[in-house]
Amino acid sequence: MSVVIVGSGNVDLVSQVERIPGPGETVLSTGFATHAGGKGNNQATAAARAGASTTFVGAFGDDDNGARLLASLTDSGVRPLVRTSDEPTGTALITVSATGENSIVVNAGANATLTDLTPEERSAIAGADLVLMQLEIPIETVTSAARIASGRVVLNAAPARPLPCDLLTHVDLLIVNEHEAALLGGADHLLGVVPALVVTLGAKGALVRTRDTTTEVPGIAVDVVDTTGAGDTFCGAFVAALDERVPLDDAARFATVAAALSVRRAGAVPAIPTREEIDDFHPDD
Ligand code: RIB
Repeated sequence: MSVVIVGSGNVDLVSQVERIPGPGETVLSTGFATHAGGKGNNQATAAARAGASTTFVGAFGDDDNGARLLASLTDSGVRPLVRTSDEPTGTALITVSATGENSIVVNAGANATLTDLTPEERSAIAGADLVLMQLEIPIETVTSAARIASGRVVLNAAPARPLPCDLLTHVDLLIVNEHEAALLGGADHLLGVVPALVVTLGAKGALVRTRDTTTEVPGIAVDVVDTTGAGDTFCGAFVAALDERVPLDDAARFATVAAALSVRRAGAVPAIPTREEIDDFHPDD
């Protein structure tokens, strides 16, 4: 069994602040850190740490940030199928408040150069049991990959943007948060175009819907340090469970535990739990 994640990699430049500033406002940070991040990289890391045989397809710059992301992927057990771009590695400017909420601005850099797929990338995608993608790379490439895939296609529609029909017809399962679901026309509308949908609800858990069934997966109460990458952790752990042929609802329960564990630590990649941590977790921990 195998998972291929096609997507972005960023280095996250994270400022801790008491509260996220409004327009025109300047605030002083209470701390600063850089971490490996990017939705694709985070999801690949989460899938591999959750136990899936995982390949990441993406583009990094020929720079220290790119080298850092490559090292991070391989350290987590991901096979990187990463091309080197003339553009710098993507970066994300993130502020994290004292309550763990964040705001993020992404500079796509090398991620924007992933405008086509090489024969080796196509072959990895075509041979995967599951392909997971997000929307921080050109949507034409996401659509091409969805067309090529012969296994299940899972799309995390983040950050939200209009989705072409040509893409949606190849998607087996869509993962969105409440905000993204609303921007894309609502859960009922989306279920008219994709057969299965997971709506992540943050601390409240997730809703798993097919055209015939709805399952509420309750959230897990934990002390929140940083919510950055929690959605990505959910997606990666979710496909890792699906890859083990776990049913949708149970896969969402497993992913909810992984996401809850991730918000207890700072940063995106550094916070993603291992399989052992997920399996050992008890709600009272
Ligand atoms: O989802 C969190 C991620 O969004 C961060 O790691 C950042 O790089 C942006 O891509």
